[in-house]
Amino acid sequence: MTRLGVNVDHVATVREARKTNEPDPVLAAFLADLGGAEGIICHLREDRRHIQDRDLELIRATVTSHLNLEMAAMDAMVDIALRVKPDMVTLVPEKREEVTTEGGLDVKASVGRITSVVSTLKAAGIVVSLFIDPDMDQIKEAVQTSADFVELHTGRYAGARRGVDEAIELEKLERGAQAAVKLGLGVSAGHGLTYHNVQPVAAIPEVEELNIGHSIVSRAIMVGMERAVRDMIELIRTAE
Ligand code: PXP
Repeated sequence: MTRLGVNVDHVATVREARKTNEPDPVLAAFLADLGGAEGIICHLREDRRHIQDRDLELIRATVTSHLNLEMAAMDAMVDIALRVKPDMVTLVPEKREEVTTEGGLDVKASVGRITSVVSTLKAAGIVVSLFIDPDMDQIKEAVQTSADFVELHTGRYAGARRGVDEAIELEKLERGAQAAVKLGLGVSAGHGLTYHNVQPVAAIPEVEELNIGHSIVSRAIMVGMERAVRDMIELIRTAE
């Protein structure tokens, strides 16, 4: 059975829009846990645009399931990971100007740096994954770094036109997942997955886990809106 990891970054995005204390991604992580998520994911970005250090620490202290920290392969982030001890670290590329993680890591271009970060994290008992495009060269390079897992970037699949382009991108994910498993890597996948496009990826037998954030947070807002409005009306009507 494919596991679901829920990314709570965008609960923090809503909070940071007001720089207030709600909605709290720590509570969202707790509720995702209650809902049956097998893991919680958050991305501590260098610019702290959504998840803050305090969120990560509290999520680590309260979430009993698997915690996967997404981060850039930077010394400052490695120090935080060694202190907070997530179960897994996923190394991602990070550019300040991007809206979200736009592409996979170029493992080949920074194989020395990535290998050294992988080794430091693994020595601390943290499982390490590399977020890469479903590209054979990147998969082979990932093996060289001694990473445990690769997370295949599903963004191109998610952005593809239904029909031909989507089928091509799905096939790349299938082949990538097969190759990675043959080379001894664990495989997860994520980015841009929605209630409409998730099933073909969930059906790839080699993919152990799907990491999904934006679409789940979006649906949570929509399915919760009616109740939230009713609760506010009740308070207003019963005021004395
Ligand atoms: N996996 C990785 C490595 C990511 O960077 C992200 C986005 O933070 C996700 C999964 C989740 O993507 P989405 O929010 O589009 O579901």
